[in-house]
Amino acid sequence: MKAVAVFPKQREVRVLTDVPEPRLQSPTQVKVRTLEVGVCGTDKDIAQFTYGTPPRGSDSLILGHECLGEVVEVGEAVQGLQRGDLVVPRVRRPCPHATCPACRHGHPDFCITGDYTERGIKEAHGFCAELFVEDVAYLHRVSPELREVAVLTEPLTIAEKALREVERIQERLPWKPAPGRAVVLGAGPVGQLGAMALLRRGYATTMYSRSPKPNAKADAAEAVGAPYLSSKEVSPEELVRRVGAPDVVYEATGVARAAFDTLKALAANGVFVFTGVPSHPEPLQLDGAELLKQLVLENQLVVGTVNAADSDFSAALEDLARFHARWPGGLERLITARHPPEAFSDVVTGKKGSGGIKHVITFSKK
Ligand code: BGC
Repeated sequence: MKAVAVFPKQREVRVLTDVPEPRLQSPTQVKVRTLEVGVCGTDKDIAQFTYGTPPRGSDSLILGHECLGEVVEVGEAVQGLQRGDLVVPRVRRPCPHATCPACRHGHPDFCITGDYTERGIKEAHGFCAELFVEDVAYLHRVSPELREVAVLTEPLTIAEKALREVERIQERLPWKPAPGRAVVLGAGPVGQLGAMALLRRGYATTMYSRSPKPNAKADAAEAVGAPYLSSKEVSPEELVRRVGAPDVVYEATGVARAAFDTLKALAANGVFVFTGVPSHPEPLQLDGAELLKQLVLENQLVVGTVNAADSDFSAALEDLARFHARWPGGLERLITARHPPEAFSDVVTGKKGSGGIKHVITFSKK
């Protein structure tokens, strides 16, 4: 079968055509035909050989962790899924250590040993292949109405986990705060989906990103009700003057300078959530004392979040259905273009499809 893989030692991304088809190896496994795979910043880093690790003993890693597929075969002990069902797989698999409380409690997203694996990223092949096999425990059934947008589930899970964390964190307040103001930093797919998730929860949400208007990202944000401001034109101080200090900043850029600048805008008792994984070193000079003073005197919390759990995938699928109903066409416009597997390398390197929001690789149109 066909697959797209990265060979880090040879520094190559190749489309392979002779990969053996995977087979069910346990009664709880499911064979899935890949329909679509989303491409994100992590894939770009892997394809530029700065991130990602092949499975032990292999010199290559099949890419792809944002996936929508269709069930083609189920093991005899599989319940709740049948041939023809649409599914989205989770990314992270638990570490093997008995002492890891997170992995032993079904939360590899909080793994403490670092020995988790991630499909398409860390020591486990991904979904950029015509077929893959996965245990039913890591698959989520998708309603057929979401066929055209469900490839966005995985990036939305990042927001679902982040906002679950924010809600828990804000239980520290002696009263139940009404959803206030939110700023989303970065207008890529994780930012756009984060904005929708915040709007859906009732936050007055502003998208704050680099490029000045007009641009496709600003149009997408404003179409769902998040006014867009460019950080090139509007300083964090001006942002506060225009829309008020945000109670939540949802960071989705992986750019340290932009993040720490925006941290200054955070409201008292506010939460700043980091989701972006920086690609490059970016040494920064900060007025550390000023920052600490602000955090202490204003009871602020800065939190990082990675990956997502079972419940975040379920929440993402529920939210996708809500977004679909509330903003017809709003999710579709996040998908800039669909490309064949052969274009993967050009898509990640920006030769094809630079700009835009989400680029998707289509494996099967069915
Ligand atoms: C993926 C996460 C993963 C993270 C770090 C992100 O692109 O969406 O599932 O945990 O990269 O590898």
